[in-house]
Amino acid sequence: MTLVFFLFGFLLSSITSHDSARDFCVADLKGAQTTVGYPCKLPKDVTVEDFLFSNFKAGTLNQFNFSFTSATVDNFPALNGLGFSLAKAEIEEGATIPMHSHADATEIVIAGSGPAKYTTGFITSDNVVYMKTLSEGDIFVIPKGLLHFGINSGKGKASGLTIFSSEKPSIQVLDLALFGNNLDSAIVEKTTFLDAAQVKKLKTLFKGSG
Ligand SMILES: *[C@@H]1O[C@H](CO)[C@@H](O)[C@H](O)[C@H]1NC(C)=O
Repeated sequence: MTLVFFLFGFLLSSITSHDSARDFCVADLKGAQTTVGYPCKLPKDVTVEDFLFSNFKAGTLNQFNFSFTSATVDNFPALNGLGFSLAKAEIEEGATIPMHSHADATEIVIAGSGPAKYTTGFITSDNVVYMKTLSEGDIFVIPKGLLHFGINSGKGKASGLTIFSSEKPSIQVLDLALFGNNLDSAIVEKTTFLDAAQVKKLKTLFKGSG
């Protein structure tokens, strides 16, 4: 009899208590971030605003003449533990998103509307190039970890929406890895076969030293 009451009470409490702690782990951005993400906000502190990202549009132009906004766990706490994030890019006519890679995320590119052409491609670890000019409505996949790029190969602005298989993808830009740090110029020259003047010019452009 006691057992029946106990089970009934248990069932009732699991129906009536909203156990949303099992449904999501909205990031407590003030908490310490670990390899598995942020700690969860207490369910009572979660609001609908945590699940909403407003005004998702490309930001200001950078030195490559493209603008970029990303919605990752750092500014969209509901993504915590869910394993994906998004970005939006707008590339000026003739401009390029430079060669870069995301070690921990596959990227899906959805071509934007308009007459501009968005050409994208990736290079495999055995250096085969897969490259495609996308039309409106096309979706292209860039497998995890591979170097890839984007080019506006048409007239006007080109835009694209990207989805990453990580809530906080890493980004390594090849130009910055080579020329945007204090790696000794002599080593950069040796490993790239560029001459000293070219390395100096690129170190200046990408704010490197050494
Ligand atoms: C960016 O655009 C400006 C203005 O059109 C142009 O002068 C400059 O060369 C462009 N830079 C790149 C990297 O495309």
